[in-house]
Amino acid sequence: MERTTKVLTVDPESPDSEVLDRAAEAIREGKLVAFPTETVYGLGADALSSSAVEQIFRAKGRPATNPLIVHVADVEQARELSASWPAAAQRLADKFWPGPLTMVVRRSEIVSDTVCAGLETVALRMPAHPVARALIRRAERPVAAPSANRYTEVSPTTADHVLRGLDGRIDVVVDAGPTSVGLESTLVSVVDNPVEILRPGMIGRRVLAGVVDVEEASRVVVDETQTRPSPGMSKRHYSPAVSMRIVESAEFQRLRKRGEKTTGFIGFVEAFGDADEAVIAMPSTPRDYARRLYGVLHDLEERGVDEIVVEEPPDGDEWTAIRDRLRRAVG
Ligand code: TXA
Ligand code: MG
Repeated sequence: MERTTKVLTVDPESPDSEVLDRAAEAIREGKLVAFPTETVYGLGADALSSSAVEQIFRAKGRPATNPLIVHVADVEQARELSASWPAAAQRLADKFWPGPLTMVVRRSEIVSDTVCAGLETVALRMPAHPVARALIRRAERPVAAPSANRYTEVSPTTADHVLRGLDGRIDVVVDAGPTSVGLESTLVSVVDNPVEILRPGMIGRRVLAGVVDVEEASRVVVDETQTRPSPGMSKRHYSPAVSMRIVESAEFQRLRKRGEKTTGFIGFVEAFGDADEAVIAMPSTPRDYARRLYGVLHDLEERGVDEIVVEEPPDGDEWTAIRDRLRRAVG
């Protein structure tokens, strides 16, 4: 499936409409177009075309049992894809759309089996990024898009990350610079009451609970051969190619003082003494930490470290998604 991947560069705030038209046309032609959302870059294709959607699975090397998120331009489009639109969905949409929240609802007949892996439900998201919004609107159809990385690899927060994994396997990448949230959207099921968190994200549990009744999904880990009821839960997901561990602060300090050059350190300390390129000081706020995390993992991979040691982040609702992604990266 060798292709020539075109890079189309746009301004993130006011993207050039000719460029957007080209990207939207590629989607309408059934091609694969990676584009920025506020969370991570997505690998987009026409959600109403089974053959286009099949190509997403092929390019990523993703099992056909793992359903995709369908991105919409507005609530009306979301409702067309839904068999029912619960009151909780409307409340969440009013509060968090456009934004980094994905809602699983019962699907209508226009949604193909391919995109939702045969489930009776579909995951819907209305992204806030101006490029994503304009692209979906111009494509004049919903856009299926998982994160634009190879299966089990770290999600991309820049077009460069996308190309590292998918160059030659996709048709277009729209480059609008780094994404702002940095972690994948919060994924909730609104099929039943209370709303269930299937994948934590930067819209945290406490914030959701201010709008609807909400509970954490039980952490079932299913094997790759089944369609998972609560996806995003496969054990090895978001993993860097390098082995990784999370340690408490005291242990982190001890390990970094030993200063193994082949180890990448990700911690909170400001200064590490002599400049060791593989030592990275992370921001102390969850928002900034999340924005940087995947870029740091990609960089350390590129540097060819043997191991990554991460200083354990704090407890608390705002750190839940970060802790979740770190745990998954450890596998
Ligand atoms: O921020 C995001 O959500 C990014 C951007 C591109 O929008 N997308 C993303 O897609 O992270 P992906 O495919 O990497 O993760 C989607 C998650 C997967 O864990 C998938 O199993 C789950 O959503 N999912 C999709 N459809 C589902 C459904 N009907 N029921 C439950 N989970 C579903
Ligand atoms: Mg993904």
